[in-house]
Amino acid sequence: MRLSVIGCGYLGAVHAAAMASIGHDVVGIDVDESKIASLSRGEAPFFEPGLPELLTEGIASGRLRFTTDMAEAQGAKVHFIGVGTPQQKDGSAADLTYVNAAVDALIPYLSEGDVVAGKSTVPVGTAATLAERVAPTGATLVWNPEFLREGFAVKDTIDPDRMVVGVREDGERVADILREVYHPSVAKGTPFIVTDYATAELVKVAANAFLATKISFINAMAEIAEVTGADVTTLADAIGHDARIGRRFLGAGIGFGGGCLPKDIRAFAARAEELGRGESIAFLREVDAINMRRRDRAVDLVVSALGGSVFKKNVTVLGAAFKPHSDDIRDSPALDVAVRLHGLGAWVTITDPEAIENARERHPQLNYVADRDEALRGADAVIVVTEWDEYRRQMSPEHAASLVSGRVIVDGRNCLDAAAWRAAGWEYYGMGRP
Ligand code: UDX
Repeated sequence: MRLSVIGCGYLGAVHAAAMASIGHDVVGIDVDESKIASLSRGEAPFFEPGLPELLTEGIASGRLRFTTDMAEAQGAKVHFIGVGTPQQKDGSAADLTYVNAAVDALIPYLSEGDVVAGKSTVPVGTAATLAERVAPTGATLVWNPEFLREGFAVKDTIDPDRMVVGVREDGERVADILREVYHPSVAKGTPFIVTDYATAELVKVAANAFLATKISFINAMAEIAEVTGADVTTLADAIGHDARIGRRFLGAGIGFGGGCLPKDIRAFAARAEELGRGESIAFLREVDAINMRRRDRAVDLVVSALGGSVFKKNVTVLGAAFKPHSDDIRDSPALDVAVRLHGLGAWVTITDPEAIENARERHPQLNYVADRDEALRGADAVIVVTEWDEYRRQMSPEHAASLVSGRVIVDGRNCLDAAAWRAAGWEYYGMGRP
């Protein structure tokens, strides 16, 4: 099937490449010329495992191309909208500028019978408004939210847990077109849920709100553990054995960040208030507040471990990305902790396997070192803020001890073996652990 994908960021670029890999003829469209140039060369403009291979294969097969020219969307049967919906600069609601601009730019090239499939995360009610805009062209709008995780985006796109398609009353025909698009997953029996616009839009924000709540729940338990001497990781293991609860997303630490969870819960709370139901999800404000407090806690641990001040102390920060397998530093708790320590007068050295370039661009005042061991050299204290394997599995406490000036380690992700680090002579501090 001929498809167009409008917006070639984390979502759109992966979607375009993944759709080409399952046999479709895809054009990816974006206004950013440098992004399009890089994608056209088969180079991913961001770090995403598996994406470069898909791009190369897709371009070589002739089924995948990228352009800045919206006119090339003409002739595609399904047009996916995958542009960003960032947080508004002066508020917590979602900024729909890019979604509206993408749809407006696409409208002149739509034909009778085309399907416009929105994938961006939007406030509930957006699809109904966009459907009115699209209707005069004879095309039909559906809402088809995306649930991909960065770092696993290729797998999540080609082989999702579920597919959700929001349609109008007469939507079975268009739902079938989407079934045809996602034919390998449909053939495999992956749940395919056809519903109304509002439900489809809400499924996405509800899922992210739930995940954020789960993380903040365990971080709240970490706060209680800190004043009672309990160990939150053991607590998480124990409650996680209950299948109704489950252990995933019960990783206590410096909390969630990234381009989705933080802005999505804020936008959801803002939308609920507009709808007169602010109180229904007022707890999301608390979820956000708990999350932000964990960054303070991590900084406090470093400060107290260094005797009450980090002024002119060498602090090595391991990690900058908001999570491993990503070079994304948007709303990264890791980078935030580094910036706060710098603000307190510490000499901060920061390293990350993938995110240094992005971090340096955002915070040029920090000292970036690509090599982990080089970064550790001479440190008075070390803090792990992104649980890359390079720090979690491949860093021996004995070897690290030979490089630093002071054996103080703060485990901001509870990802290290506390006993092994203590045995090697380190003062170990976890998050919500004795
Ligand atoms: C998230 C959703 O998982 C995905 O379904 C949606 O489409 C987009 O938003 P992503 O932003 O890629 O995906 O990251 P995710 O893996 O969910 O992690 C989010 C943050 O939570 C990271 O900062 C991570 O470090 C943190 N986290 C995750 C925890 O602090 N503890 C955990 O137990 C799990």
